[in-house]
Amino acid sequence: MTTPWVSDPLLEQLAYYRARAAEYDEWWLRQGRYDRGAALNAEWFAEADQVRAALAAFHPAGRVLEFACGTGLWSERLLASAEHLTCLDGSPEMLALNQARLRSPNVDYIQANLFEWQPVARYDAVFFGFWLSHVPPERFAAFWDLVAACLAPGGRVFFVDSRHEPSSTAVDHRLPEREATTLRRRLNDGREFQIYKLFYEPAELTRRLNDLGWRFEARQTEHYFLYGSGSRADSLKPS
Ligand SMILES: C[S@@+](CC[C@H](N)C(=O)[O-])C[C@H]1O[C@@H](n2cnc3c(N)ncnc32)[C@H](O)[C@@H]1O
Repeated sequence: MTTPWVSDPLLEQLAYYRARAAEYDEWWLRQGRYDRGAALNAEWFAEADQVRAALAAFHPAGRVLEFACGTGLWSERLLASAEHLTCLDGSPEMLALNQARLRSPNVDYIQANLFEWQPVARYDAVFFGFWLSHVPPERFAAFWDLVAACLAPGGRVFFVDSRHEPSSTAVDHRLPEREATTLRRRLNDGREFQIYKLFYEPAELTRRLNDLGWRFEARQTEHYFLYGSGSRADSLKPS
């Protein structure tokens, strides 16, 4: 089953996540179509713990902004050290699930399209999980300009995303070769959508971000995750 009514690829991508909201966590929890058996699931969870430890060491404090927050799998981690968290997502369904998970007076929500939105405040840290891979290649530089525009002086960014690994997705998803920029995703009810999905190598991503004026370092876990942190090279910490 396909979704012929959606003609803009970025709208189709958002439509996919809106429709997937209620079943989204199955991926992270390795349930249903995402269950790859005890050994691979254990590897997944161990590597996820590694990224969580890196995020805790990064210590997102002060005013924190999360792009594409989804159901809140990372928001609750951010809330552990943030003074105030702003969660942004294009999907009202995702935002409702996030709100139900966090139930915190220290969080506010923005429903917006990240390809159009501009910040009206500045943040000490910006975080995005599994979002960079959904930014079309021709929007890469503009996206990082947006991140820069969200940061207060001395502000920092942390991200996590997927490595090109077939067992990181559902058993009925086909992972195209790593150079492809789009792929098809299926929901539990069989509906299919085309989305952007780009896979970066840590060294290449680090180099590209350094070229764009970031002081940045990307790393990877053994199989599943790419992550990294940095700041603008020209951004001075407030004294
Ligand atoms: C792969 S999910 C990541 C969710 C969450 N960050 C996590 O790691 O669990 C991508 C998220 O991007 C949101 N999204 C998709 N298109 C968007 C857009 N144009 N603007 C803002 N959010 C968008 C989806 O609703 C979804 O919550």
